[in-house]
Amino acid sequence: MSWRTLSRQHASSAWSRRPSTKSLLGSLNHARHSTPLASTSVATFSSLDTFAPRHIGPDDQEVQYMLKELGYDTKEAFLADTIPASIRIPSNVVTNETIPALTEGELLSRARELARKNSSFRSYIGMGYHNAVVPPVILRNLMENPAWYTPYTPYQPEIAQGRLESLVNFQTMVSSLTGMDLANASLLDEGTAAAEAMMMSFVSSGSKKRTFLVDQGVPAQTVAVLETRAKGFKLKLRIGDVLDASLIQELREDLCGVLVQFPDVNGKISDYSSLASELHQSGAYLVCASDLLALTMLKPPGEWGADIVLGNSARFGVPAGYGGPHAAFFAVSDKLKRKMPGRLIGLSRDVDGNPVYRLALQTREQHIRRERATSNICTSQALLANMAAMYAVYHGPGGLRKIAARVHDLAHILQTHIEGMGFKVLNKPFFDTLTVDISSSPETWKRLNKALLESKINLRVIDSSTVGVTLDESVTTQDFFDISGVFAKAAGIQPLSSISDIASTISSTIPSHQLRTSDFLQYPVFNKHHSETEMMRYMHHLQSKDLSLVHAMIPLGSCTMKLNSATSMIPLTWPEFSNVHPFVPLDQVTGYTEIIKELEADLSLLTGFHACSLQPNSGAAGEYAGLSVIQEYHASRGESHRNICLIPLSAHGTNPASAVMAGLTVVPVKTLNDGNLDLEDLESKAKKHSKNLAAFMITYPSTFGVFESGVQQACDIIHQHGGQVYLDGANLNAQVGFTNPATCGGDVCHLNLHKTFAIPHGGGGPGVGPICVKEHLAPFLPSHPVIATGGDKAMTAVSAAPFGSASILLISWAYIKMLGGKGLVDSTTSALLNANYIAYRLKPHYNVRYTNNGRVAHELLIDLAEFEKSAGLKVTDFAKRLQDFGFHPPTCSWPISTCMLIEPTESESLDELNRFCEAMIRIREEAEEIVIGKQPRDNNLLKNAPHPISVLALDDKAWRRPYSRAEAVYPLPWLRRHKFWPSVARVDDAYGDLNLICECPSVEELASSP
Ligand SMILES: Cc1ncc(COP(=O)(O)O)c(C=O)c1O
Repeated sequence: MSWRTLSRQHASSAWSRRPSTKSLLGSLNHARHSTPLASTSVATFSSLDTFAPRHIGPDDQEVQYMLKELGYDTKEAFLADTIPASIRIPSNVVTNETIPALTEGELLSRARELARKNSSFRSYIGMGYHNAVVPPVILRNLMENPAWYTPYTPYQPEIAQGRLESLVNFQTMVSSLTGMDLANASLLDEGTAAAEAMMMSFVSSGSKKRTFLVDQGVPAQTVAVLETRAKGFKLKLRIGDVLDASLIQELREDLCGVLVQFPDVNGKISDYSSLASELHQSGAYLVCASDLLALTMLKPPGEWGADIVLGNSARFGVPAGYGGPHAAFFAVSDKLKRKMPGRLIGLSRDVDGNPVYRLALQTREQHIRRERATSNICTSQALLANMAAMYAVYHGPGGLRKIAARVHDLAHILQTHIEGMGFKVLNKPFFDTLTVDISSSPETWKRLNKALLESKINLRVIDSSTVGVTLDESVTTQDFFDISGVFAKAAGIQPLSSISDIASTISSTIPSHQLRTSDFLQYPVFNKHHSETEMMRYMHHLQSKDLSLVHAMIPLGSCTMKLNSATSMIPLTWPEFSNVHPFVPLDQVTGYTEIIKELEADLSLLTGFHACSLQPNSGAAGEYAGLSVIQEYHASRGESHRNICLIPLSAHGTNPASAVMAGLTVVPVKTLNDGNLDLEDLESKAKKHSKNLAAFMITYPSTFGVFESGVQQACDIIHQHGGQVYLDGANLNAQVGFTNPATCGGDVCHLNLHKTFAIPHGGGGPGVGPICVKEHLAPFLPSHPVIATGGDKAMTAVSAAPFGSASILLISWAYIKMLGGKGLVDSTTSALLNANYIAYRLKPHYNVRYTNNGRVAHELLIDLAEFEKSAGLKVTDFAKRLQDFGFHPPTCSWPISTCMLIEPTESESLDELNRFCEAMIRIREEAEEIVIGKQPRDNNLLKNAPHPISVLALDDKAWRRPYSRAEAVYPLPWLRRHKFWPSVARVDDAYGDLNLICECPSVEELASSP
C-alpha cells in the first residue's frame, strides 16, 4: 500500500492507544452493578479526547508503513537497532502506571481545580512585578495565536519579516523610552540582565577592575543573581548607598561599575547625574535598572549619563504569571553597541536593494564566542517582547502618558490620604510606589494585617513596621478604596466611600529637573494603530509574513519543533494563573505549588535523577546553573580548585560559554571521523587534568544525531578522575521512556522544556531550562532570597523569580499528564521513526553523514560539501530554495559547517514527511542540473532563491533567468494548493552588519522610501 492511499482511521486505531483512567473505570464499575447496562462495552464510556493520537503525527497504519519501508516488522525490532541495549531502561519505568494519562477534557478539569486553589488576593507588592492589563486585541491575536507563538528564532529573515519588524519596534520602544542609543531584542529577566550589565562593565572597563557596587535600593532578587554571577569572574560585589561620596571614593580605584534602581525598590526617585559624571571620570560605568512606564514621566537615564539601562518590560501588557515569562530590556550607549549581549535585530537589504530586517551580528550569537564568552544568552523572551512592543504600538506615546499619569495621580491621592491618617510616607518624590511607616503601635500593625487578610490584599512587608504599596494600571476605583480602606482600618478611622471625598488638587512632588521634557515614540508605527481594527490588522499583516508551525513542519535540528497543543496553552491565561505576583505567600498558591511539585517529580522520573529545579529561564541558563551546582559540590568537599571543563568540539556554543561564565576553563575534546566522541582523547585529557577536573559536558544523543554506544564509558572515565558529568538535555526527545541521562552516566542535566516538553518557542523565547540532579547534588540546587527554594546547601539564585518562568510550566505539566507514560514512549518512538524514515528517503540523494548501526537518532545530518566544488552551491543556497517549497530550512551549518541538521519530531504526519522529502529530492535534481552544466553556476534556482512575489512580478526584460517563473515558484504540483510566499528576496547579511541600524524608520525615512 502506498502512503498516498493510506486512509486515516483514527476512530478505530485510536482505541488501541487510548489509556483508560482510573476514575472513569471506577464510576463505570459502579454503573455496571447498579444499572442494567451489563452488555455495554467498557470502551463506550471512555472519552474520545485522548491526547496521544492528536499529538503524534503518524497513526498506526503510517507507523507500520514506515517500519516496513525501513525493513522492520515491529517497533521493537526498529528500536533495538536504534538505541544501544547498554543504555536501555526497563520498560516498566515510564508507563501509564507511573504517569497516568488524562484526556484533554480531564486535564482542563484538573487545571480548573488547581486554579481554584490559588487564592484571589490582589497584590500591590511591586519589587519589579506589576499587575499588567493585557489589551484583549493582543491577548487574542498574539499571545493566544499559534502564528505568533510557534515560530522559531528568526534565523531565516526572508520568512520572518513580521516578528523581526515587531522586535525592531521593541528595540525602538526601549531606546526611545530610556533615552539610549541602542537596545537589544530582550533578555531573560531583570536579574540576569543586571548580571549581563555587570559583565559588560567589567569587560568594557578593561577586565582589571573587579569591584561592582550595587545600590541598597536594588531589589533582593537582583542582588542574589548578581552574587551568583560575580563568582564566575571573581568580581567583588558591594552593596551600599551609591550617593555616599565617601563610599565611591573608597572603591574608586577598583570600581568597574555601579548599579542603581530608578525609581528604587522603595519607590524613591534619586538624582544620579553627578554620580554618572564622577564614574565616567574614573572609567567606570553607570548601570541603571528602570521602569518603562515611569520613564514616560521621568527624565530618562540616557539624558543624565547612564551607560546601560535595563529592566522588566512586563507591565507593558504581559501578565505577572507568578514570575514570568517576561521580557527584560537592555539598552546601551553607542560606544558599547558591539559588546551587547543577546539578539539584536538590524536593518539590511535584500539582493534587490529593498530594506529588510534580520538578526544583526548573527554569527556572534550562534557560537557565543565559545571560550572567550562573556555571555551565554541564546533563547531570550521574543514573544513577550513582541507583546510589550504591541502594547506600545496600541497605546502610543499619548496613551502611555495617560496611563502613567493615572497611576502616578492615584499614588499621590493615596499618599495624601495615608498621611492624613497619621502614617508617614517615607519616600519622596515617588512615581507609583509608597513606603509607609506604620510604627504608631503594635495594635495598628495588627489591625493592618487583619484588614489585609479581610480585603484579600497583599502589600510588601518591608519590616515589622513598614510596608510598601505599588500601584499600577489595573487599579480600579474599587481597588483604590479597598487599599486606602486597609490603611484606614489600621488607623481605626472611617474609610473613604466616595470619589467626592477625595481632595481635588493633585500636585506631583517630582522636581521639575527630574521630569521628562523630551518626546518619545515619535515613529509612525507608534502613532497610527490605536483603534482595535487598525491594531488587529497590523498584527495580522506582520503575522502573514512569517512561516510558523501553522504552515508547515519546521525541521530544525536540535530545536524539536513539535506540537504546542491548544489544550496545554488554555489555562495559561486564566486569571488564577496569570495574575499572580511571584512573591505572594505560599499558602495563596497551593494550586501552582501542586503543579510545580508534580512537574518536578515527573521530570525526575523521566531523567532518572533525584531532584529538580525549575528556576532557570532557558537552556543556557540551565547549563550555567548545573555547572554552578557542580562547583558548589566540589567546594563542599574541599576541592574548589577543580576548574577544568572538558567539552567536545561539536558541542552547542552555549556549552563552553556557560562553562566560562561559571568560572571554568574549557578544554576541547575531539570527535572521530565517524562522528563519535574520541574516547582516547577524552581519556588522555581527563588524565592530564585529573587533579583539576571539574566537569565534562556532553550532549546525548550527540549533536551529530546518533546514539553513541560509548557514552557510559566516557562518563566512567570522568568519574574515575573525580569529575562530574553534565548532560545537555536538548536532545532528550530521543530518550524519554527508553533511556535517561542518569543511565547514560550523567550527574546533572538541563532540559529544554521549550523543546522536548512542548512549550512553544515563541519566535525566540520564552524558554525554560530546569536542571535535574543526582542525589549528591540535590542540596546545592538554587535558592531564592524572597521565597525559599533549593536544597539545604543551596547556591544563590540564577533567576529573578523563584520558579523562573512559572506560568509556562503549566504547558509542560499538561503535556506530560495528557500523554501519560505510554504516550510519552510512543512519542519518542515516532520521533525516532520519523527521522529514520527521512534518512531512508534522502539517502539515495544526499550524503547522510552519520549513523550508528545503520540508524540515526531523532535527527540527521546531511552533508552538502560536495556541491560547493561541483556546482558552487553552499548550505545557504539549499536552505533558501527550501523556502520556495514552503518549508522552514533545517538547522544550517551546525554542528558542521557544510551540513544541514534535520529533526522532524513525532508530531509530523507521514504526509508532511513525504512533502518535505519530495522538496529535498527536487532541490537535489535542480542542483544536479548545475553540476552537469545545464544551469549556470551563478544564475540558477538555488542561487536566486527564495523567489518572493515581487520577483515573480518582474517584467520579461528584467526577469533574465534561465528558468521559468513556474519552475521558480511552483516546482512541485502540490505547491499550487499549498504555497507560502517568502516576503522578501535573499537578505544581504554583510551589508547589515557593516551598517548597523536597529530602530524603526522615522517619518522622513518612510517618506523617502519607495
Ligand atoms: C544542544 C543545545 N544545547 C543548549 C541549547 C541552549 O538552549 P537555549 O537556547 O534555551 O538557551 C541549545 C539551543 O538551541 C541546544 O541546541
